[in-house]
Amino acid sequence: MKLFVDSANLAEIEESLARGFVAGITTNPSILAKEERTDFTEHIHKIIGLIRRFGREVPLSVEVFVDDPAEMLDQALKFVSAFRYPMLSVKVPIGWGELKVVAELRKRDIMVNCTCCMSFNQAYMAALAGANFVSLFYGRIKDIGYDARSVVEQTARAFREGGIRSEIIVGSIRHIADVNEALGAGAHIVTVPPKFFPALTQHPKTTEAVDQFLGDFRKWSEQA
Ligand code: E4P
Repeated sequence: MKLFVDSANLAEIEESLARGFVAGITTNPSILAKEERTDFTEHIHKIIGLIRRFGREVPLSVEVFVDDPAEMLDQALKFVSAFRYPMLSVKVPIGWGELKVVAELRKRDIMVNCTCCMSFNQAYMAALAGANFVSLFYGRIKDIGYDARSVVEQTARAFREGGIRSEIIVGSIRHIADVNEALGAGAHIVTVPPKFFPALTQHPKTTEAVDQFLGDFRKWSEQA
């Protein structure tokens, strides 16, 4: 069970990398569009630079931003030669035409994260096409009244029983409870917006214990 950072913000990525728990980074066009307008290629290079500064070589997902499958393939190949990052994982949305892109990229040994999966069938097809990662969108599945937890469970079970090696990334996290639920349901990875990370380290009883320890020690050391 691994945690990825779902962000393209350099400060947020750095804050997370500095804490050692990061097993990967996911971006998408909307996440990138939250950043100050800049050159796309340069920005991805900066993220890679940060990963390397922390001595890590973790998967970095970068999504194609065209919708024609032939153009997707072309763009994916351009990413590979522009970024020259061995752990680059090209994000390709699930779809019939898109599956050909997934298969083509895998034939060339390029890592693929097949994204925007909202159902078991989509995740399963992506995995059979050879995607290294399949991304299930927890929050968006719940938005239309479906049970995201059971979609993750069914996918995890099928992968386990079918000997499928694709890793399930659960994204579209809206609450801390989503992280726990997704991991409990069998997700290999949850990609989390960085605003949730500090809360994942906190507990009121921890604060109470630490305050007590410091208070007791202070009183003891101030005794005459
Ligand atoms: C996952 O890889 C995606 O980047 C992301 O989690 C999508 O989430 P959203 O529903 O907040 O757009």
